[in-house]
Amino acid sequence: MSTLAILGCLWGDEAKAKVVDYLGASADVVVRFQGGANAGHTIVVEGRKYVFHSVPAGILYPNCNCVIGSGVVVDPFRLRDEMRALQDSGINFEGRLFIDERASMVLPLHQELDQLQEKRLGEAKIGTTGRGIGPAYADRVSRRALRLIDLAHPEWQGMRLQALYEHHQIQLEDLEAKLADLQDVYEFLKPYLAQTDELLWDWYLQDKHILFEGAQGTLLDLVYGSYPYVTSSQTISGSISVGTGLPPRCINKIIGVYKAYGTRVGEGPFPTEIEGETGDLIRKQGNEYGATTGRPRRVGWFDAVAAVYTARLNGLDGMALTLLDVLGGIGELKICTGYWLEGKRVKGFLSHHLDLARVQPEYLTLPGWDVDISSCTSLVRLPKAAKDYLDAVQDLVGTQIELVSVGPDRKQTIVIK
Ligand code: IMP
Repeated sequence: MSTLAILGCLWGDEAKAKVVDYLGASADVVVRFQGGANAGHTIVVEGRKYVFHSVPAGILYPNCNCVIGSGVVVDPFRLRDEMRALQDSGINFEGRLFIDERASMVLPLHQELDQLQEKRLGEAKIGTTGRGIGPAYADRVSRRALRLIDLAHPEWQGMRLQALYEHHQIQLEDLEAKLADLQDVYEFLKPYLAQTDELLWDWYLQDKHILFEGAQGTLLDLVYGSYPYVTSSQTISGSISVGTGLPPRCINKIIGVYKAYGTRVGEGPFPTEIEGETGDLIRKQGNEYGATTGRPRRVGWFDAVAAVYTARLNGLDGMALTLLDVLGGIGELKICTGYWLEGKRVKGFLSHHLDLARVQPEYLTLPGWDVDISSCTSLVRLPKAAKDYLDAVQDLVGTQIELVSVGPDRKQTIVIK
């Protein structure tokens, strides 16, 4: 049996999709298991850009089946738009995209609530993507949500929608039109709805190569991240089973994706954040603007304290290090090797965001490199300083780097193992 999970292990945006796309060449099935359209992946294949929010990136391979598991919250309207845009780029979904009918829906109401809540929080806002993810998961846990399968039961769906608006004390205008829109989107999505746990189990028994594609990152995990500045799903490997219906023992290998430096969008602590010129330069070289919201990302040094924590939480077998090319021409590079708080070196990642916001990082400083490494496809062609940087990251995290990405294209990849 061979199944592989690819998970973001920092604050999201680690270029997981590039790694999924690269390793997806040999996958029979690619599965999303948490999150929603808050994720944004851009993949470049032979100069052509494809943007993904809910559809697994594996769809770019014509023989790959793709699954949106029950753990995902699905905005049916956005999903239809995304699928239509991909169809216009020549992608065919027929018979190879499966969406779990038990997935909860993100409705326009959730987006409204998300934005309202952020406004109410004022200075204390989370900095969400505004895609309604938090309110949708909250409704799901409170058993108020509408699921995709509810679309097959129009009367029930009408009652549930009314109850949902009543609960949130939002005036429901034009129920009939809303139900008609939902029926319309149902007609589009119906051919793809399934109980995907059963399909996945069958594929697992048939020894198909299944790849689990994480969204966001471990430091945004609802419980283990920098709460409350987190997303509303659990992003760690333990969530794969819950979000797919496959037993935990079906996950054979777990690769964590780390950026060669740090980035974060939205509010919340970021111990290694770099302000000023160096940060601006990395942002510019890395084109660090959110794929979903277009917001400039905050930039920081590689945080080995956080990386050790996320490697442990996920039970990593190996790491993929992405965007190494971006660090060229930056000058001296730093890696955070410890946190200090009130004069004491603290043991690891901290539970309270107020403490995380106060820590003083301890840094290892390494020489940088000036040459462009974006066309290096083997370790031996990397400058010594880049190899030393990889060695330092690997030693500090204690997990083998199996793959290095030096650019967005499939070809710009160094395979180590
Ligand atoms: P939400 O998931 O939209 O509720 O946003 C909660 C936090 O997670 C905010 O800080 C977002 O910027 C962040 N976030 C959500 N999705 C992503 C992602 O795909 N990449 C990076 N950050 C994300």
